[in-house]
Amino acid sequence: MTRILVLYYSQTGQLTRAARAMLAPLAARRDVEVVWQELKPVTPYPFPWSFFRFLDAFPECVYLDPAPIAPVGFDAATRFDLIVVAYQVWFLAPSPPIVAFLQSPAAAVLKDTPTITLIACRNMWLSAQEKMRTLLAARGARLIDNVVLVDQGPPWATFVTTPRWLLTGRQDGFWGVFPPAGVSAADIAGAARFGRALVDGFDKLRAGAGGSLLHGLGAVKVDPGYIAGEKIAQRSFRLWGRLLRAVGPPGHPGRRALLLLYALFLVTMILTVLPASMLVRAALRPLLRRRLDTEVARLEQPSGSSDERMARYARVDTRL
Ligand SMILES: Cc1cc2nc3c(=O)[nH]c(=O)nc-3n(C[C@H](O)[C@H](O)[C@H](O)COP(=O)(O)O)c2cc1C
Repeated sequence: MTRILVLYYSQTGQLTRAARAMLAPLAARRDVEVVWQELKPVTPYPFPWSFFRFLDAFPECVYLDPAPIAPVGFDAATRFDLIVVAYQVWFLAPSPPIVAFLQSPAAAVLKDTPTITLIACRNMWLSAQEKMRTLLAARGARLIDNVVLVDQGPPWATFVTTPRWLLTGRQDGFWGVFPPAGVSAADIAGAARFGRALVDGFDKLRAGAGGSLLHGLGAVKVDPGYIAGEKIAQRSFRLWGRLLRAVGPPGHPGRRALLLLYALFLVTMILTVLPASMLVRAALRPLLRRRLDTEVARLEQPSGSSDERMARYARVDTRL
């Protein structure tokens, strides 16, 4: 019997659907037990978000200072063959419920256990996964794979469709220009290829061989254009986050005025500094190519972006 633990939290159910699609080929097998553990914040986060509540969440996200979650239903001493940590990104960090779990005593369950991260987010996940790597390493987890699903459409479209979804709850496409918000149904369904590959990887897993089981399946794709942008945004988040936290806890009336100022700063940054830095980087790219390629390859670890095993696993398998 192979035992798999799936840790997840999702506001709209998108990440849950992605995790279920990925695990479906395993859940159907008699020799596999999948334990689903939803992480529940003691005080639920709102959805859709009000503008201020949304912005007010960023300092604690950035400083990995989450609100508490309810106790989990398994014993931390239980041993699993594989743990799937499904998480979404909030303000360039893993969302607070998963951080709260990783900081709790129950996270001892991860020790020495092969772990796969599954991300479903807009498209900015690089800094969050760096933080996740550190959090997992602190728990002694063995990160063997990372799967990333991003929102459908080009970045200029998701820059509109994702916030619209989060702030109004509306996910539909509109004006004939903007696609529906979120990860496409096809990409979610396509996550089943990872589950099929895991079935074939069980022997390796049980033998404790380590290493990626999901390589060659296009599990991640790092866009080098985001590397610098995330670094710049991260710096501003940390600076403003420190100021806001000095004013008071989330919801403190004093944070409102500062948040308004921050929102203005953010829009100005997004419209000026970010495109300027992307242009400068694009101009310098030929000079920086080697360094950038090395960085992309590092960020794509451990699963990589190659897709040579797609033909084998990205099929509709009627036996499953
Ligand atoms: C407060 C908040 C901040 C977010 N920040 C980011 C971000 O920095 N990068 C990103 O790619 N997506 C970001 N998103 C989008 C989420 O990662 C995710 O795609 C969306 O919330 C749907 O997830 P869920 O319904 O499964 O919880 C953010 C969402 C929320 C609610």
